[in-house]
Amino acid sequence: MSIIAEKPLVTTLGASIEAIQQHYDLSNDFYALWLDETMTYSCALWESGDTLEQAQIRKLDYHLEQARARNANRFLEIGSGWGSLLAHAVKRFDVRFAQGLTLSQAQHDYVRERYPQDADPRIRVDVDSWEDHHPEQPYDAIVSLGAMEHFSHPRDSAAEKVAKYRRFFERCHDMLNPGGFMSLQTITFGSGEFGPSAVADIFPESHLPRLGEIIEASARTFELVRLRNDRRDYARTSREWLKRLNARRELAAELVGEETVHDYRKYLAAGGWAHTKGVFYLYRLTLQRLA
Ligand SMILES: C[S@@+](CC[C@H](N)C(=O)[O-])C[C@H]1O[C@@H](n2cnc3c(N)ncnc32)[C@H](O)[C@@H]1O
Repeated sequence: MSIIAEKPLVTTLGASIEAIQQHYDLSNDFYALWLDETMTYSCALWESGDTLEQAQIRKLDYHLEQARARNANRFLEIGSGWGSLLAHAVKRFDVRFAQGLTLSQAQHDYVRERYPQDADPRIRVDVDSWEDHHPEQPYDAIVSLGAMEHFSHPRDSAAEKVAKYRRFFERCHDMLNPGGFMSLQTITFGSGEFGPSAVADIFPESHLPRLGEIIEASARTFELVRLRNDRRDYARTSREWLKRLNARRELAAELVGEETVHDYRKYLAAGGWAHTKGVFYLYRLTLQRLA
């Protein structure tokens, strides 16, 4: 008798699915206490006078515009979190089909419930890694926000990291139509060799890229057409998240315990500090598929 698995196990070159779930499956209600209403969990794009939600929506607009996603037939988000960009793509950019990938079961279940597929077949999310995702047809545009931070492992050498990121860009190249655009946002190491341990500890098995590694890894598959470093935007986003978590500290402790709340407050403060000082940078890259 042969046993054929319905779906192969999720494989990742970077953080394992267990490590990702340790962070993102903690509690949707906990994240809802301090993220904005859209549940976006990556650096916002601020203008003075913005609320957190306005700055997050500006960021979603920016990346969908950079990826030339308007009216796209098929759109992919790698690391789709709690689904804010997928929903924005179909509602505001008239994307006909938006596919999200996440390694978090809790995020997957949240998106399925908030945007049920039978009610809106334009949004689909799967617990799947970019390594294992082999669509039947290519996509017109790709966005990935705050996921590349998980694509290599702390034990990797610089050469191993570049090799892994090269695999990522090759897969994105194969999944995109010729001439298609990808908009990518990631924290990188900045001026320092290491970041604060309060940040590293909260994201097990994950290691930040450096800009040079991203450039080297993407050189044969993508042309870099736009690059911006908005590290101060992340400092402000982290401060805002921390302020909101502090204001709901007791409720948060009821959900996840005092110790976890303490660890998150330390991590948000340390992340904000690292972006303020330039220990971390925050890059937004617009890339176009080479032929
Ligand atoms: C910081 S969250 C960002 C979520 C969303 N992009 C946002 O801005 O709100 C990182 C996301 O990357 C996903 N992720 C990490 N490694 C991944 C992989 N190998 N393949 C697909 N998704 C991955 C996580 O599951 C999570 O959804």
